[in-house]
Amino acid sequence: MAFNIGCATVKLYFYGPTEEELSMVTTLTDAKRTAIAEKLAGMRATQNLIINNERQFLQDCRDEKVRSRIHDMLEDDEKNLKILETSIIQYGIQSEPKETVKQLVQQVEQSMGSSDLSLYEKLAQHELLKHGQVMTGLLIHKAGQVVGADIEAAIAPLNTVNFENRAHQEQLKGLLEYVGTQELTGQEPDQSIWGRMQDAMAAMTGVLGSAKTQTSDNEDADIMSLIFMDHQKAKTLMREIKNASDSQKSEEYFGQLYKDLIVHSKAEEQAVYPQVRSFYGEGDTQDLYDEQAEMESVLNQMKSLSPQSDEFHACLQQLRDMVGHHTSQEENEVFPAMRKNMSPEQREQMGAQFKEAKKQLQTEMASQM
Ligand SMILES: [Fe+2]
Ligand SMILES: [Fe+2]
Repeated sequence: MAFNIGCATVKLYFYGPTEEELSMVTTLTDAKRTAIAEKLAGMRATQNLIINNERQFLQDCRDEKVRSRIHDMLEDDEKNLKILETSIIQYGIQSEPKETVKQLVQQVEQSMGSSDLSLYEKLAQHELLKHGQVMTGLLIHKAGQVVGADIEAAIAPLNTVNFENRAHQEQLKGLLEYVGTQELTGQEPDQSIWGRMQDAMAAMTGVLGSAKTQTSDNEDADIMSLIFMDHQKAKTLMREIKNASDSQKSEEYFGQLYKDLIVHSKAEEQAVYPQVRSFYGEGDTQDLYDEQAEMESVLNQMKSLSPQSDEFHACLQQLRDMVGHHTSQEENEVFPAMRKNMSPEQREQMGAQFKEAKKQLQTEMASQM
């Protein structure tokens, strides 16, 4: 089915934009959102560094007590890298880490490879990195709360990463005591450190347990939950635009909505629609493409309007109706067809392809802005 682009018709009934409105044409880039994207990219670079360090520790260290703890930490960290990656894709803006973070990564890589440093000294640097990750994670949450409601949902899975990083910090403190005492005296320290580490971990796991029930880890998310999360985010953003108290806020939200919807649609067209055509039907699948083309044209029209104008709000209402119709078609018709015709493994694989497509599109978009 096709939509009427009502807001294009509305245009005829309004007088042209005022001079003030003309000077306020929407920009899609918001400095605050870009700054958060840069922090997230820094967190990803640091997480990769942390993983490489831990692999190195496992190669270099022969002490079983130390190895088994590092090994568990490495497993968590590899899983957390995937969660971080998913959170960045949901957040919607790809970025490079800040130059200073890149330099720090290089410096740490060098000192980790150096034979001048003892294991204690290397672990001490590693613990600082973990501390940095915890602080950056908290900071991103706080900043997200200030900038917009859509961000909180997108980065919710980071809670798990933050809690685990805090637990790792406790473990690393214990490891530092153990390794340091051995290096200095050749003897093992008082065995109570393992008990203390265990207690600290249990306390953290208690907090972690409650955080985990609120969010799913979705490291290898099913395609349906990924699409659903995007739909929810778009609806949140449209609500925020409608209720925004000033035009600056609407502009920020619109910039994000624009990018998210274009990326979501294109990723569906690359990774989803071609594969559902065979069981969802030629005509119905074509409708999905047509509706998305119409949504894109409304979005582009909105881009040239002032968020304060009546026309913009007419378009927004039009877009909300279109998105509501389109997403319910996907959730109520396409999803059941997917459940029936695709195995859970196929849906996970499609999820991975969808995520990859989004990431590439977001990267292209970031380089164009
Ligand atoms: Fe969709
Ligand atoms: Fe769609």
